[in-house]
Amino acid sequence: MRISTRSNAFPGSAIRGVNEEVVRLESSGVRVYGFHIGQPGLPPSRELLLEFTKELLERPFEYSMYTPSSGIEELREAIAEDYTGYSGVKISSANVSVTAGSAEAILAAFMAIIDEGDEVILFDPTYLMYEPVINYLGGKVIRVRAREELGWEPSEEDVKAVMSRRVKAIIAVNPDNPTGRVLSDSMIKLLIDLARDYDAFLIYDEAYRHLYYEGSHTYAIKYGLENVIALNTFSKDPAMPGWRLGYVIAHEDFIKVFNRVKQYTNLNPPTPAQYAGLLYLRKYKERYLSETLPIYKSRMETMHKAIREYLSEAVVVKPKAGLFIFPNLGSYLRRLNINDYEFAMKLVREAHVAVVPGSAFGEVGKFHVRMAFARESERDIEEGISILANYLLRALGSSE
Ligand SMILES: Cc1ncc(COP(=O)(O)O)c(C=O)c1O
Repeated sequence: MRISTRSNAFPGSAIRGVNEEVVRLESSGVRVYGFHIGQPGLPPSRELLLEFTKELLERPFEYSMYTPSSGIEELREAIAEDYTGYSGVKISSANVSVTAGSAEAILAAFMAIIDEGDEVILFDPTYLMYEPVINYLGGKVIRVRAREELGWEPSEEDVKAVMSRRVKAIIAVNPDNPTGRVLSDSMIKLLIDLARDYDAFLIYDEAYRHLYYEGSHTYAIKYGLENVIALNTFSKDPAMPGWRLGYVIAHEDFIKVFNRVKQYTNLNPPTPAQYAGLLYLRKYKERYLSETLPIYKSRMETMHKAIREYLSEAVVVKPKAGLFIFPNLGSYLRRLNINDYEFAMKLVREAHVAVVPGSAFGEVGKFHVRMAFARESERDIEEGISILANYLLRALGSSE
């Protein structure tokens, strides 16, 4: 089989390695504490699903057809209205393109902006889908260290130091996956100013813009739409990741190019999902958020408290938003002389607690683990963390 050398740019996600182990264990009847997957822990709105299935049966032809590549006009209008309402910046459906999750938006956006050799600034650690896509397209990733001591924000000096005319884009995942960090307003303003001064784009990934437990979201476009490409998804706050629906907000001129490119990544976003997304925005969003956010918040508090209680040597920044907590277990893992990959694999196999190794998100993530707090109940979160802690302490006891 003669596969491309370029395909090696895609290493295969570290999350899948852990997940394969989870599937294997669960299929033999083992209970696994699933802290590894970035999936909301609650089903989508039941009322929405009831209304959607009724509509689908009434209009099977329309709900199964191809749509424009940029999505149906009603949905683009609803997104524009929703985004205008939250951001306070007037945008129209011409600023919106609907995608198959933000994963398609990441691919098509970089296909639209990257030439061979272009540089892209990415924080370290951050979401792991960006780097392989940029490498595949011949771009060059420049990592800027996010500083744990600054609550995982990079320093302004470090960002300015790597900026040049070679840079085509700066990526900011805000709120962040895996750290749960929310960027300060002054950092967002700096990133926009740099993008503008150097004629680059700010790729602003807002997948978790509604999942805040402290403070509120800053909409980058309030500092100007021209250089911003905002990526959004229906995977997180409506809890519909499998429906594969997302969207891009950007300047009209960029959207035109993006729509041309994305005809080749996906003829159109999934049609039934577009109608479900429309229902969510028009009727169910506010109520669903008011019901689910308090649940996620208490799960986050429980996990944070359990880590502090059971793992007294862990360094842990309390997440302000998102679905993850990212403790530094360096004090334990260094003494055990194992890295975070080995630890995650042993932990799932031997103690049946699934976490993601931190170095999957960048070099700076090493000795950390990413844990999703939204999926398990509070009781199971506490139990899972106590099992993890006992596993570590027992291993230390037998090695020292
Ligand atoms: C920050 C961030 N961006 C994008 C995605 C991709 O999600 P989707 O393609 O489901 O929208 C994820 C998924 O976990 C994410 O965490």
